[in-house]
Amino acid sequence: MLEANAPILLFDSGVGGLTVLAELRKLLPDAPVIYAADNAGLPYGGKTEAQVAARVAGLLGRMTERLHPRLACIACNTASTIALDAVREVLEIPIVGTVPAIKPAAAMTRSGVIGLLGTEATIRQGYVDRLEARFAEGKTLLRLAAPELVSAAEARLRGRPVDTEAVMRAADALRAMPGGDAIDTVVLACTHFPLLEGELAEAFGPGVQFVHGAQGIARRIASLTEGQPFRRDQDDLALFTRDGEAVEAYRQGLAAYGLKRIETF
Ligand code: DGL
Repeated sequence: MLEANAPILLFDSGVGGLTVLAELRKLLPDAPVIYAADNAGLPYGGKTEAQVAARVAGLLGRMTERLHPRLACIACNTASTIALDAVREVLEIPIVGTVPAIKPAAAMTRSGVIGLLGTEATIRQGYVDRLEARFAEGKTLLRLAAPELVSAAEARLRGRPVDTEAVMRAADALRAMPGGDAIDTVVLACTHFPLLEGELAEAFGPGVQFVHGAQGIARRIASLTEGQPFRRDQDDLALFTRDGEAVEAYRQGLAAYGLKRIETF
């Protein structure tokens, strides 16, 4: 029988999944949440497919055994585009993934040119090729790896200033690609990037709209848990895979998302 205090597990390499948590809170304010950040493995974007798949499947397997979540969400495009199917095969709970929002972007663009910002690993995935072929036929999709933005978003959560030049470099590099001047829609295909939406809007200037999956993922989680009882017995928990001083620096940022306890997994 499902316990009312069984948590929803959100998993990312770092703080990117908080963009999903923020949307989930709006829909399910009473749901107990465990937010897991594999900071020992961050960044996933520079790893091989085999490394990401092994880490994600291994960690989610152990976390599920120990924490008994009712559902797990891989709130990370890199991990989802590489390992979603493998994780679904081994775990018995519902698994919600995060995939680049190419479909809504294709419906929104007027110019027909869409930019996509992701990690190095995400932009080379066949998963993204398939989304492009299926939903963006006849449009141009320009993909750029922007690993510096992952560090910039992490810094923001530690209360550090954001490297706006890194954001500017990403915008300029995307625009400099053939056809890039006509970009009017940018897919934020990394859960870290909506944390920088203000800086990105500034860097791209007016006339460019951004799209990401956080709301849709939150809706999916709400629909999969519809009718289930929810009871929060204690403050929601943030788990890190590597302990240390660095983790303390996130305390205030995490508390703003209702994660008032921090532990190491
Ligand atoms: N937040 C992750 C994503 O959505 C990736 C960050 C990283 O570990 O490189 O792609």
